[in-house]
Amino acid sequence: MINVGLIGFGYWGPNLARNISFNPDLELAAICDFSSDRLKAAKQHYPRVNLYKDLDDFFNDTALDAIAIATPVATHFKLAKKALLTGRHVWLEKPMTETVPQAEELIELAEQKNKVLLVDHTFVYTGEVRKIKEVIDKGELGDMIYYDSTRVNLGLFQQDINVVWDLAPHDISIMDYLMPFKKIEVSATGSHYYGNGIVPKSLLTIYMENNTIAHINVSWVSPVKIRQTLIGGSSKMILYDDNQPSEKIKIYDKGVVLGHTMEELYRLKVQYRVGDMYAPKIDDQEALALESSHFADCIINGKKPLTDGKAGLEVVKVLVAAEKSLKLKGAPVQLA
Ligand SMILES: NC(=O)c1ccc[n+]([C@@H]2O[C@H](COP(=O)([O-])OP(=O)(O)OC[C@H]3O[C@@H](n4cnc5c(N)ncnc54)[C@H](O)[C@@H]3O)[C@@H](O)[C@H]2O)c1
Repeated sequence: MINVGLIGFGYWGPNLARNISFNPDLELAAICDFSSDRLKAAKQHYPRVNLYKDLDDFFNDTALDAIAIATPVATHFKLAKKALLTGRHVWLEKPMTETVPQAEELIELAEQKNKVLLVDHTFVYTGEVRKIKEVIDKGELGDMIYYDSTRVNLGLFQQDINVVWDLAPHDISIMDYLMPFKKIEVSATGSHYYGNGIVPKSLLTIYMENNTIAHINVSWVSPVKIRQTLIGGSSKMILYDDNQPSEKIKIYDKGVVLGHTMEELYRLKVQYRVGDMYAPKIDDQEALALESSHFADCIINGKKPLTDGKAGLEVVKVLVAAEKSLKLKGAPVQLA
């Protein structure tokens, strides 16, 4: 049994607590939160779990083998570093860190200490994203052309980060998993309409190798909730609509064929291919349940997590570049 301590019992932490406590290989052994109200809520759900208000007391709990961190991003580096230095495996919420050097330091430390460092890119573990990966890997879509997502709603305004750091990690991590292409440049536009310096709505463009492109539209100020992703290939295209109760993925045998002869090109001759659509069956296991089992498996069998520190670093690199581009009103920023 792997004893896990959780830091942060706010909005997302309770989801981790529930999945950790249901997992047969993991034991939810402790919860730490500096809010008395949140500790009271934790006690109601988990009366037998050790509760800590003080971080030092929590880290001094020698029973803990692993630490899950579900606090705001500004705290991630310090807490994850302490967890690794005290010999614990780490489950770290997205986005991994505030800066690229911080993410690199955590990766190095996890390697040195021989500990598992999993970054919670939850969507990668959903049945929908796993199914899309299967379809792409079979070559059904042909050559990949674009990733185009809209993730907007009347959202929870964050006090410390803009919408890019809050919502775009989901899309960047999904895209990295499905289309692991070299990313070249990022351009991001947005504005802080509400006078608090926080950007609530932004459009990111990511230029990748082979002329592949991503558009990621994120917003907390949309009157309706839209969670739609279009993934375009030369042979087929996918619509992933996470708001649908069923048939969340539709695979369209549609495409565009450009003429190749000089005359066809001169006349801009384009043919549209319109074929069938099918909606594949999706595994409906909760993503966090699968991810918890994967975390345990990595610890027990010394495996590397699917969403490891390197995956977390890739996302942080894009976020940092996007933040720079936002300040430059969308000027493209190179990705190293
Ligand atoms: N994977 C996902 O799909 C997903 C979804 C939502 C949030 N998140 C991530 O989870 C993290 C937390 O987000 P949230 O929305 O739950 O935030 P939140 O503000 O609702 O909760 C954070 C909790 O941590 C506590 N806390 C903060 N700093 C602390 C510290 N130093 N010591 C002890 N307790 C501390 C706060 O009191 C609060 O209860 C963020 O990194 C966020 O990006 C991930």
